[in-house]
Amino acid sequence: MNYRHAYHAGNPADVIKHAVLAFVIEHLLKKEAPIRIVDTHAGIGRYDLTSDAAERTGEWVEGIGRLWGKPLPAALEALVGPYLDVVARLNPDGRLRFYPGSPDIARLMTRPGDGITACELHPEDGASLAALYARDRRIKVIDRDGWLVPKAFLPPKERRGLVLIDPPFEERGDYDRLVEALGAGHRRWATGIFLLWYPVKDPVAVKRFHAMIAGLGLAKCLTVEAIWRPVDGERLAGAGLVIVNAPFTLAAACRAAERPLWEALGVANGRLGVTGDAA
Ligand SMILES: C[S@@+](CC[C@H](N)C(=O)[O-])C[C@H]1O[C@@H](n2cnc3c(N)ncnc32)[C@H](O)[C@@H]1O
Repeated sequence: MNYRHAYHAGNPADVIKHAVLAFVIEHLLKKEAPIRIVDTHAGIGRYDLTSDAAERTGEWVEGIGRLWGKPLPAALEALVGPYLDVVARLNPDGRLRFYPGSPDIARLMTRPGDGITACELHPEDGASLAALYARDRRIKVIDRDGWLVPKAFLPPKERRGLVLIDPPFEERGDYDRLVEALGAGHRRWATGIFLLWYPVKDPVAVKRFHAMIAGLGLAKCLTVEAIWRPVDGERLAGAGLVIVNAPFTLAAACRAAERPLWEALGVANGRLGVTGDAA
């Protein structure tokens, strides 16, 4: 396990993933019943953008760095507003230093009766995550294989909530594992919202992945795919999210955000494709 998210936190892929995650959490909070957020590949929870790792790559500069501290066009508000509110809560003095990973977005948005289950297998990152949340009894940190989550933890007793599956893609087999995990998770918890993150690099692998997802035959399955440079099979060209049981407002929020998002991120010819069905 070589992947460490500290090198990548806050990059353009994180911005889109975390904006969609915060949008979905906000939707879940519209009802009073408690929710559970299950994060199968959680990372360390919160990132310091002044750390050696973040400074070494500087990836965040072209992601959250481009959105921070600027007035938002109204068309971007619905998609990125909840996410930027969370980032602002971590940086109350207005200087961008701390970046929330998915467990911290979940922690900051949820209520006292809600619960979070966060799996992280990397020994050091798992220990950092456990230390960060040691005093928050709503958060269960688990140092187990996140791919076992569907069998071990679904459905949650709350019966409302979401599962984020965000593996590192160190191995190509992660596309297959994502599909298997979604199939197994959905069989156990058909009303849960599932968010699966995937990279766009090799167009053949991505096409095959979409075909396998379609093969599951799930009724309410939306794909949001961001492409920020030509797909050449070499470099990361984009990233997508498959969202099962997505809020029906998500597709419209993504479509409205497409142009202003790329303008804000300084990407010429970016695309934010939305396909499939929402709940
Ligand atoms: C892309 S990062 C997660 C980022 C995080 N979800 C976020 O959005 O802030 C993937 C994480 O999965 C962890 N990981 C890798 N294999 C795992 C496994 N089998 N089970 C749980 N975690 C794993 C890695 O150590 C890494 O921290």
